[in-house]
Amino acid sequence: MNTLTISFDHKTSATDLRIIAVSSSDVQQHELIEQDTARKGQLSQLLKEGLISAKKGNTSLVARANSRSPNVLLVGIGDKPLTLRHYRELLEAAANAAQATKHTQVECTLPTLDVTDVDSTQKLVHAALIFQNSLYRYDDASRGKAAKEDAPLLNTLALPKLDLSKEEAQQAANQGQATALGMALTRTLGNLPPNLLDPEGLAAHAKTLAKTHDLNCTILKRADMENLGMGSLLAVAQGSAAAPRLIALEYKGAKGKPIALVGKGVTFDSGGISLKPGAGMDEMKFDMCGAATVLGVMQAVAELKLPIHLVGVIPAVENMPAGNAARPGDVVTSMSGQTIEILNTDAEGRLILCDALTWTQREFKPAQIIDMATLTGACIIALGNNTSGLMGNNDNLQLALQKAGIMSYDRAWSLPLYDEYDEQLKSNFADMGNIGGREAGTITAGCFLKRFIENDTPWAHLDIAGTAWVSGTKKGASGRPVPLLVQYLVNQAQKEKAED
Ligand code: BES
Ligand code: MN
Ligand code: ZN
Repeated sequence: MNTLTISFDHKTSATDLRIIAVSSSDVQQHELIEQDTARKGQLSQLLKEGLISAKKGNTSLVARANSRSPNVLLVGIGDKPLTLRHYRELLEAAANAAQATKHTQVECTLPTLDVTDVDSTQKLVHAALIFQNSLYRYDDASRGKAAKEDAPLLNTLALPKLDLSKEEAQQAANQGQATALGMALTRTLGNLPPNLLDPEGLAAHAKTLAKTHDLNCTILKRADMENLGMGSLLAVAQGSAAAPRLIALEYKGAKGKPIALVGKGVTFDSGGISLKPGAGMDEMKFDMCGAATVLGVMQAVAELKLPIHLVGVIPAVENMPAGNAARPGDVVTSMSGQTIEILNTDAEGRLILCDALTWTQREFKPAQIIDMATLTGACIIALGNNTSGLMGNNDNLQLALQKAGIMSYDRAWSLPLYDEYDEQLKSNFADMGNIGGREAGTITAGCFLKRFIENDTPWAHLDIAGTAWVSGTKKGASGRPVPLLVQYLVNQAQKEKAED
């Protein structure tokens, strides 16, 4: 993917496109007046005649006035105060319209707009993120030609530094850009078809990332997991011709106990013997978006050289029906020693995550653990496709994640893990069943995972079943919750600096 060059010292030239806002209530904006003057009142005339629309999200192109001035892209912003949501929509409209003009150099003045509840830093983070994101194209070897043909041309973006120092502004832009590039990795891995990305393939991508970004990488194979007693994870993998992997990456930007990210990596979820219905089953290639998020976040954190210690762990399997697949009724022993009655082979995510959580805690002694998983269809019923489900055992951690979600516009909201729900996991034949019935399916999945957290280590679980990908004509991985997690880790790094 093309990487934008983002700068804050722009000298407009005739090859450029300048993006400016046009409001339907306030035509006294500095950038607009400047361009209007250069064009001897042409812009205000076009506005008056209704040939330029100030309606929110509408864009109009006006050619340069002379050889020294840029072409302009006017973005209508309407007349209401802008919220972060609207600001982002305007940036998206601007980035797409700019892309269509085939300009290589663009100056975007939209960050000078007043946006309620967003500071200068976040304005620049979102601007850099959205412009970099607009260059994303799904691109794998089998599609090389098609992807090249619609390759974007935009390569340089100038932004106002607002009231920040040059360094602060550049840092904000770097955060936005690294987040977008992390999302691009997450999206491409999510979008890869399951015949081109199996657990071993996921491990290969992790190895590549480790090499390019100087991370430690450990990969466990089936025999290693047998020795560790990961009976739960292995039961999910046993019906597939593709061998499982347990992938660990470590980024050491600081001393002390690490933060651990654990991501569900089911490269295809057929449901197993509890086979899913056929309609839409292709979308279960996205069941490794938690894993892809771990890789996207590790990449962004390494790019930003954040002063934190971070590990990423990925249990990677394929869930298939077969003569040697796990059956409903099977009882397995997890690495923790707890036994599990598999009542539904389609509740496989928790079966691989529980062993990954145990291993992560024993191997890395993390200060906190955050897992993300496309875990339950019930989460889509509860929260829809805009908001991720958030659960855990520690209010402070949950609040910090919620806040990072709001800042990054990648929001998550809390569901409770009360004891009463946990009781739904009772089994007559093992320490627990792997399902808790129809009611509160997202919560009982969270309760299941909670049983594998040792010594009350602060832990949070993000159910991203509704947010990790988009269905319909725009089908594809979304790159969420990379923005939430990168913002959380940036906040965490700042907090540690303040405490020093
Ligand atoms: N990967 C699915 C969850 C899922 C379903 C994500 C639909 C996105 C869209 C998960 O492995 C699963 O199958 N969960 C079951 C759990 C049930 C058997 C308790 C579900 O949600 O139906
Ligand atoms: Mn499943
Ligand atoms: Zn699944």
